[in-house]
Amino acid sequence: MSKFKRYTVTAALPYANGPLHIGHLAGCYLPADIYVRYLRSNGELVKFICGSDEHGVPITIKAKKEGTTPQKVVDKYHKIMGDAFDEFGISFDIYARTSSKIHHKTATEFFNTLYQKGVFKEEITEQYFDEKANQFLADRYIVGTCPKCANENAYGDQCESCGSTLNATDLINPKSTFSGEKPILKKTKNWFLPLDTLQPQIDAYIDSHKEWKTNVLGQCKSWLSSGLQPRAMTRDLDWGVKVPIEGVEGKVLYVWFDAPIGYISATKEFFNTSKEINNTNEGDGANLISNLKPHEKEEWELYWKDKETKLVHFIGKDNIVFHCIIFPAMLMAEGSYILPEAVPANEFLNLEGNKISTSRNWAVWLHEYLLEFTNKQDALRYTLCANAPETKDNDFTWKDFQAKNNNELVAILGNFINRTLVLTHKYYDGKVPEALEFIKADILLLKELSKFPEKISSSIKQYRFREALAELMNLARLGNKFLADNEPWIIIKTDKNRVQTIMNLSLQIVANLTILMEPFLPFTSKKLATMINLNNNLKWNDATRTDLLLPGHQINPSSLLFEKVEDEIIDSQILKLNNSKIDNQSEINKSNILLNKNEDASPIVINFKNEAKADISFDDFNKMDIRVGTILEAERVPKTDKLMKLLIDTGIDKRTVVSGIAAYYKPEEIIGQKVSILVNLAPRKIKNIESQGMILMAENSNGELCFVEPSKLNINNGASIK
Ligand code: MF3
Ligand code: ZN
Repeated sequence: MSKFKRYTVTAALPYANGPLHIGHLAGCYLPADIYVRYLRSNGELVKFICGSDEHGVPITIKAKKEGTTPQKVVDKYHKIMGDAFDEFGISFDIYARTSSKIHHKTATEFFNTLYQKGVFKEEITEQYFDEKANQFLADRYIVGTCPKCANENAYGDQCESCGSTLNATDLINPKSTFSGEKPILKKTKNWFLPLDTLQPQIDAYIDSHKEWKTNVLGQCKSWLSSGLQPRAMTRDLDWGVKVPIEGVEGKVLYVWFDAPIGYISATKEFFNTSKEINNTNEGDGANLISNLKPHEKEEWELYWKDKETKLVHFIGKDNIVFHCIIFPAMLMAEGSYILPEAVPANEFLNLEGNKISTSRNWAVWLHEYLLEFTNKQDALRYTLCANAPETKDNDFTWKDFQAKNNNELVAILGNFINRTLVLTHKYYDGKVPEALEFIKADILLLKELSKFPEKISSSIKQYRFREALAELMNLARLGNKFLADNEPWIIIKTDKNRVQTIMNLSLQIVANLTILMEPFLPFTSKKLATMINLNNNLKWNDATRTDLLLPGHQINPSSLLFEKVEDEIIDSQILKLNNSKIDNQSEINKSNILLNKNEDASPIVINFKNEAKADISFDDFNKMDIRVGTILEAERVPKTDKLMKLLIDTGIDKRTVVSGIAAYYKPEEIIGQKVSILVNLAPRKIKNIESQGMILMAENSNGELCFVEPSKLNINNGASIK
């Protein structure tokens, strides 16, 4: 038995400044949801907490960009994000928001407690100030050259190129992102959390969690070994939770102080709302009056202050230090809270080999996916889980999505279930047949079957969701193999009794799959449960049983659980991405201060040349066959702005290539143009034209594409480029 009585599971509060994309889902929300759904299925007490992070610089920057107020920004995105989570089956018990009253009250009280305990160090420091904008430049409102790696676009708090943590005053050539001007230094008073004096406690805490993932421990160790510094918990800003100290104006709590307290305030809100107290004028229950005696804990407190509660934070890797060091330090300093027991942080998900980028629209947006793949949430959940960046950054590609859907969901899981249900209808009018005599193979099968719930849960408990999902698929494979080995469709002519047993066992596997797939594929599980008429109160361990569908039990008409995704759909997604890349390149050159997050958040001056792709091996490079060629014919592809159909003499053959250069060249200009061409790129259909290769183009400083031209040298077509 676990030593924990209940679980508080949180997923990072996303900034309410933009819609959600697949990177959000894969990094944090999907694994958290799988974990929680498993816990519920296992009968555990669990609260799954999330909400919008509505304070901080990212929000104010977005408001500026959209010419609106921060409040309007967060109202808009809170709704959009909440809906997207809902539609993908992310089953939060509450999706709250940090602009709520109850949150402001909770964060204020937390700060006051530390303030009254004398935890904070009050310090006057010099901060950058933009005289034109008449405003202090918090964190990411300032960019400059990194003193460590000379990246010109480092932020006031961090260089994303070399990963160093910085102070704004470390930057060479600092610039305000408001005015582009050099800021001045101005004195200001702030309140610091003395991480330096708390370090021994934090060291001991991290030391007590040797079981944490290595990517998490690695980051913690690197922070701790360079010695923690006091960190300001207040900021000179006007958007956020006001600093509750008398006489202090124009300052708010640091967003990384208030946001994690959002987990606590959301838990309070959950219990308040679920008590349905008619405590009128406070809509969010901020004034809840408790009926409890003083020594008793309120229910929310059990989830935060009881030693038998396991607190688990699901986050992405950019949040590690805040959840493993700073938030625990706050909780330690407060004194009455439990500490996070696990922080299973994921790495990042890339898209088609490039970093996901909100500003460049290099993303698969959840709301767009839903429009294009109606009712296929589980296909995306499946692919993102199978590819989850659990231990290293990983790549999402549309081709892989298609392959996972077609070759795994359709061909393995769907196929097994479908064959079983169709045969049951065909042979028995949809009534579960009785198993008669078990042969040796059946006994072996039953033995194998009984192991799956434990195998899968053991992986889930260790936050190894890819492994867990692979086991689930192994169960479906086992089912397929059982059918293939036993061939009921053949022996039905000779041995009806044997077929009864085969079909009964296959149906039990289907029932077990229904339970075990639920954390991963909740929509499919629900659909399947309806098809086989399965009692919906079943728990995880019921999946070890082989009497879930009793003889005579009537199943409902069945339909396919998964559909094949055709090439055209995938090609159009790839084309859409490539087009957005071209669109953005021209946009980017119009204004060069852009939002990026660490993109979703922060202003940086984008410099494409600095955004290197992930390393590839020499072998990868060697796989590319790049040649010199000449354009023989060129014509625009009708009904597109960007595409040109080219006929290229590659020296080895003459071939058609579709290229996104129509915005930059007229067809007649480029006949005879020498080009570099990747000749062994797998052919793909673009607008129904088969494109057999790719022309290499370079982007000039105006964002236009130019030929990578082997021209001046006198080289023959077909010469290899190395
Ligand atoms: N908004 C932050 C981000 O998107 C995450 C905040 S997590 C919390 O990176 F703990 F502060 F809530
Ligand atoms: Zn750097």
